Amino acid sequence: MGKLWGGRFTGTTDKEVEAFTASLSLDYRLWAADLEGSAAHARALEKAGVLSADERQQIVAALETIGRDLSEATVPVSSGAEDIHSEIEQRLSTLVGGLSGKLHTGRSRNDQVATATRLYLREELEALDGELKSVQAWLAETAAKHLHTLLPGLTHLQHAQPVSLAHHLLAYFWMLQRDRERFADARKRVNRLPLGSAALAGTSYPIDRATVAKDLGFDGVCENSLDAVSDRDFVVEFLSAGSLVLVHLSRLAEEIIMWSTPEFGFITLSDAVTTGSSIMPQKKNPDVAELIRGRVGRLTGSLVGSLTMLKGLPLAYNRDLQEDKVHLFQGVDTVRSCVRLAEICLRGITFHPEKMRQALNGDFSNATDLADYLVRKNLPFREAHEVVGKVVRECLDTGVALESLTVEKLRTFSCLIGDDAIQCLQPENVVAARTTEGGTSPAAVAVQLEKARKALEC
Ligand code: ARG
Repeated sequence: MGKLWGGRFTGTTDKEVEAFTASLSLDYRLWAADLEGSAAHARALEKAGVLSADERQQIVAALETIGRDLSEATVPVSSGAEDIHSEIEQRLSTLVGGLSGKLHTGRSRNDQVATATRLYLREELEALDGELKSVQAWLAETAAKHLHTLLPGLTHLQHAQPVSLAHHLLAYFWMLQRDRERFADARKRVNRLPLGSAALAGTSYPIDRATVAKDLGFDGVCENSLDAVSDRDFVVEFLSAGSLVLVHLSRLAEEIIMWSTPEFGFITLSDAVTTGSSIMPQKKNPDVAELIRGRVGRLTGSLVGSLTMLKGLPLAYNRDLQEDKVHLFQGVDTVRSCVRLAEICLRGITFHPEKMRQALNGDFSNATDLADYLVRKNLPFREAHEVVGKVVRECLDTGVALESLTVEKLRTFSCLIGDDAIQCLQPENVVAARTTEGGTSPAAVAVQLEKARKALEC
């Protein structure tokens, strides 16, 4: 079969131009979405009186055959077709002859590709949501086991105040929750039908777009045909939300990497997600976590790439738009594989609660609580801060832990200090005192965990 636009041309296309403009190897993965859109269009054409019932039936059956062939194909298609839409049209003509030409009535590749891209992304969003949820489920399950496992909470990477491991893990739960919400919101704008916009201006055939939208499970139609064929803001939205997923996972990956160092020793990673060194026999490297951290660049690169592609494009379709798939597919593949690998990595973690607890000994992460104690004895917080600062200085000079000081010693800094001060310096009590909603006390975390479980129900 020749080009889709043969009639007007007398010369042939330059081979290099063909190679430059072709996208089949890239957009091949849209085949199922394209077939779905084409079948719906065939049904719409029947209703519009363009196809007879028999013709529609022949076309839909042939599209199903093509679907079976393509799903069984083990080698990539190399027919020389320009893109997956031409490839499918070519196959259709082999199966139903001249009838295949009727399917393109009232349709252009412009609305066809926009429809297929949206159908494809809708599927991917569904799968991604399940994968994110699965990581969240692990975080919640693991948090439930560690309400009383304590470790230093850090600010500026310096020991700040103790927190529970449950609280720490749930921080990531909520990041991923917002990611899922962002995708769900983006889906509303993905799930609109461009078909029926044809090349740019709509079509003169009486195609009932609302019915086609229903047929394909869209929430409605794109309201403006020029906009429908030429905007890819839904791709940008996906890549933006996807970038945030990767940013979140990169933070988690960074902590996995740090926690598995001998200096921290908080976790051991399973052999399944680590690699050795060709020269240093002792090495066990967290490469998977490092690659998750490193792949953020792909997402942000695609995000900027897609924004740049759209900037300044005049209405309506321009071939620049074919580039959307480079970015979209790279984004989809990267986000989905990183989410899956993050889960594999997490499921292989062995926690070392005793090492976490040890890290709290003498680390002064209870200093705020001594100041709070003095505040409860009516000392203004700034003065209390000053007093405790002096205590810390003395501990540092003498190499004694804050929690190991005797009451007598503490009283030399302030006569407000009584026997009960020692109690409030124990990390378990420091944590238990943080009872505000969203705080780290076991009681508050239990409430948080309930909310997390609720969020997992939808
Ligand atoms: N393959 C193109 C794309 O992905 C669709 C073809 C539309 N081409 C055209 N010259 N109008 O955007």
